[in-house]
Amino acid sequence: MAAPPPRAGGCPIHHDAAPAGLGPTGCPVSAGAAGFDPFENGYQQDPPEYVRWAREQEPIFYSPRLGYWVVTRYEAIKAIFRDNLTFSPSIALEKITPTGPEANAVLEQYGYAMNRTLVNEDEPAHMPRRRILMEPFTPEHLKHHEPMVRRLAREYVDRFIDDGRADLVDQMLWEVPLTVALHFLGVPEEDMDTLRRYSIAHTVNTWGRPKPEEQVAVAHAVGNFWQYAGKVLEKMRQAPDQPGWMRYGIRKQQEHPEVVTDSYLHSMMMAGIVAAHETTANATANAIKLLLQHPEAWREICEDPGLIPSAVEECLRHNGSVAAWRRLVTRDTRIEGVDIPAGSKLLIVTSSANHDDRHFADADFFDIRRENASDHLTFGYGSHQCMGKNLARMEMQIFLQELTRRLPHMRLADQRFTYVPNTSFRGPEHLWVEWDPARNPERRDAALLQAQPPVRIGEPSRHAIARGVVVESATPVADGIVKLRLVSPDGRALPRWTPGSHIDVECGEPERSRQYSLCGDPADAGALEIAVLHEPQGRGGSSWIHGNVRVGDKLRIRGPRNHFRMDETAARLILVAGGIGITPIAAMARRARELGMDYELHYSGRSRAAMAFLDELAALHGSRLRVYVSEEGRRNDLAALLGQPREGWKICACGPRRMLEALEAHCAAWPDDALRIEHFESNLPQLDPAKEHAFEVELKDSGITVTVPADRTVLAALRAANIDVPSDCEEGLCGSCEVRVLAGQVDHRDMVLTRAEREANDRMMTCCSRACGGKLVLEL
Ligand code: HEM
Ligand code: FES
Repeated sequence: MAAPPPRAGGCPIHHDAAPAGLGPTGCPVSAGAAGFDPFENGYQQDPPEYVRWAREQEPIFYSPRLGYWVVTRYEAIKAIFRDNLTFSPSIALEKITPTGPEANAVLEQYGYAMNRTLVNEDEPAHMPRRRILMEPFTPEHLKHHEPMVRRLAREYVDRFIDDGRADLVDQMLWEVPLTVALHFLGVPEEDMDTLRRYSIAHTVNTWGRPKPEEQVAVAHAVGNFWQYAGKVLEKMRQAPDQPGWMRYGIRKQQEHPEVVTDSYLHSMMMAGIVAAHETTANATANAIKLLLQHPEAWREICEDPGLIPSAVEECLRHNGSVAAWRRLVTRDTRIEGVDIPAGSKLLIVTSSANHDDRHFADADFFDIRRENASDHLTFGYGSHQCMGKNLARMEMQIFLQELTRRLPHMRLADQRFTYVPNTSFRGPEHLWVEWDPARNPERRDAALLQAQPPVRIGEPSRHAIARGVVVESATPVADGIVKLRLVSPDGRALPRWTPGSHIDVECGEPERSRQYSLCGDPADAGALEIAVLHEPQGRGGSSWIHGNVRVGDKLRIRGPRNHFRMDETAARLILVAGGIGITPIAAMARRARELGMDYELHYSGRSRAAMAFLDELAALHGSRLRVYVSEEGRRNDLAALLGQPREGWKICACGPRRMLEALEAHCAAWPDDALRIEHFESNLPQLDPAKEHAFEVELKDSGITVTVPADRTVLAALRAANIDVPSDCEEGLCGSCEVRVLAGQVDHRDMVLTRAEREANDRMMTCCSRACGGKLVLEL
């Protein structure tokens, strides 16, 4: 039986009609839930920590103080974002604390008529409007704003660079995003101070709990904001061909008056400033605070600005500027096993989702190299996902680039951080930093000011996440093979890895980056070991390593990453290595031994002198090791080894292409996923538009359809449409660009999926695979 909708201050459930999923009393209000108060200092200081108990024990609870159901876990929140019919965004901008009659009368006096914009518009009105208004947000259009953002950031830093102390919020982070927002919208720059006051009032009015005596003052500011927005809009209508998103909307109104309405334009004029301004200002203040609280991360981005895009993303995840968002339940539903009646209001605590260990490994840990950081929900998800996310990312990168370059010696001053009490928008009101101006790098090197570091428009590339390591030892382990032991420069642990993983080593320059399998012991967190065969006829990576790398040198690496996982549940594991292919296989054999698995290790080579690790392997694996030395006339008899398909047996192989092809041929009769082989080089040809056809991809979660032209990959077309998809190799080897396929036949071109996985047709690699027909439907 459906319960009546919740009332603020009361329990929404009849206790004698206990719905499924609740405790023995039927009352959903536990002690934790009863005590939940998002206007309290605990929530303001650290929202995910404040609701940790809920994330762990009671992932959805009813808050009698707020009159909302509060949702705290990643999957549930993403599912809510995904379904905007059951979970309407209509209350996203509703006042969370209803104002009294006096304040309402003031608002009325100003003709305040804030209405639906985009963020709180239901379907079917929302998507046509979003589609029409999206173009100015696409990467191609956004890049024109980069010089303006950089100029502003530099000017503001110039003002305080010699002072040795600054409140970054007051002296930079508040005003620059506001000016950028005004430029983006096309609003004149005057009245900035007034606007600043207005927009704070708007936040308090919408997401805060103003005291009764404050409500009237807030209402006056909001009323003034409303009228100001109306006047500016009228000014813009006089010159609709000028730049800016609002004028773009005015022009679109002429073509689609029923979609881009007057009410929308006036409301958006006000909401747009807040959407673009405070979110970004707060996000940057949170990010700088977080980075300075983790000095080693700050140092790393100062030394390697290439890490800034991924650091921005991790800051947005770990400490974003939107802590929670809202949805209205339109039909009886179930969330986390609890029946939620139609009419219920949801506070979806996205900052808590971003700290959910079920989705983010060691989620509280701040890791600027986290590979799935861009899965965070700070920008929302699906058809309402923040349209301005890439402008915000661009601004944050530029602020960090300028500050790390010009003030790498900056540190946090002693202070107590305060926040404007509200459920959703979150950032410190002040951020005091200090430094010694005598040590400003630009005093020694004025050329530093000329640098134009690149900005990444879109989610960060995994490709850019490099780390510095030091060569601790370089040991010859066979003819032409050197083993390098790599350790972190500051003695800290390196990332954990699993057998089959590789790292990318930059061989002298970032463009010459080569993949090498890890061959050491995964339990040894202090070092990563690779073995490199000198291949004079190769592409130059191994020659560079053999010719240049010495003990004590610094190298830049990426990873570890694993595209070649062994099946630890196999009934029997057949490990086959040829030559230098022993590197991943040796790590697998060690693991199989540790797990007590049934395994065999088959190792072939030209001569004993050319085969690495022979003694070590013999000592570790005894009779499980079979060695085939062609010089001695022994070859691995693959026909005998693999003649009969065997239930539950799995084969992992790495070695020369000829050996792998022979293995594939011998395994033809085996189940599709019995054989896993390591590919280091893709044989993916260049995309040839003459041989390809254009097709459409319908994105179910985002509600849009993107055309993939014959000369573009799906990945490139998605990114141009502002859809985030991670990628790494971009040549079909690694699996990071995988998306789920809901309909349509895929033309698979990757080396990641097995035959069976391809036939299942439920996922694809967007960097290379295409559609067989005219359309694919993707879960994006
Ligand atoms: C929507 C966050 C910057 C424009 C949203 C939503 C969130 C959000 C949570 C609602 C998403 C949903 O319901 O799924 C942020 C954050 C920002 C930021 C954290 C900065 C770090 C910006 C900027 C702009 C912007 C700079 C504009 C220039 C919008 C618009 C929407 C939106 C137009 C409505 C989209 C729709 O409903 O279709 N943003 N935002 N945002 N944001 Fe942002
Ligand atoms: Fe590596 Fe697509 S990015 S498979």
